[in-house]
Amino acid sequence: MRVVLVGAPGAGKGTQAKYIAEHYEIPSISTGDIFRANIAEQSDLGKKAKAYMDAGDLVPDEVTIGIVRDRLAQGDTEPGFLLDGFPRTVRQAEALDDILSALDTPLDVVLELQVDDDEVVRRLSGRRTCRTCGHVWHVEFDPPSRDGVCDECGGELFQRDDDLPDTIRRRLEVYTEQTAPLVGFYDDAGLLRSIAAEGSVDDITTRAIDALELAAKS
Ligand code: AP5
Ligand code: MG
Ligand code: ZN
Repeated sequence: MRVVLVGAPGAGKGTQAKYIAEHYEIPSISTGDIFRANIAEQSDLGKKAKAYMDAGDLVPDEVTIGIVRDRLAQGDTEPGFLLDGFPRTVRQAEALDDILSALDTPLDVVLELQVDDDEVVRRLSGRRTCRTCGHVWHVEFDPPSRDGVCDECGGELFQRDDDLPDTIRRRLEVYTEQTAPLVGFYDDAGLLRSIAAEGSVDDITTRAIDALELAAKS
């Protein structure tokens, strides 16, 4: 299964990516997570990406495409992969086509997670992430039993720098301007499946896997 998840910031891409990747036993690749890991390590890539991310803007295509090209060349992607947060521009989508054509491994499906803007703001403003294990919580929708402490590992929870109200608004604008056109791009290619991404996490996972199964059969 080779799948791309597309959806607004806070649509639940990372949340669903985990369950979908487990179901198909494929690696889940998030460009946002790769950038955040590089920022934590203070690598050159992290230094380049940080200012763009803090502003809610996209990291330039030439940087992002190279990272994904290298990641897809690793052996663990042979049974398939799930891309979370890439591509995000038409130029990235065209580059992904080229990368996958060269490997002779075309995409099976692009799954769009649909949520409205008010829900996105609620989800992002309450998101908390574990500094130790990376588990993602929500203060209202999926709270840990103790404030600020991860139930999975006891680690400290933090709020992402880009989950502040002004930055959330900017990320939504960027999504509408630069990423939403991919929906039409992949629909034209016959790869698009869209699901409603509101309701419980489990229900959405079931909807997602049903949509992927249907797409894989057609
Ligand atoms: P990235 O990390 O990809 O952020 P994003 O697209 O803004 O998406 P998020 O991670 O914020 O949301 P999500 O959809 O994963 O939601 P989640 O599952 O966490 O990118 C960050 C930045 O990196 C970009 O702004 C850009 O600068 C850069 N970047 C990354 N990729 C790039 C690219 N390809 N090109 C250029 N730049 C790039 O859920 C959110 C919250 O909601 C959580 O708290 C969760 O617990 C909760 N939740 C989830 N599902 C539900 C539910 N069903 N009901 C209630 N709550 C729920
Ligand atoms: Mg995410
Ligand atoms: Zn943890």
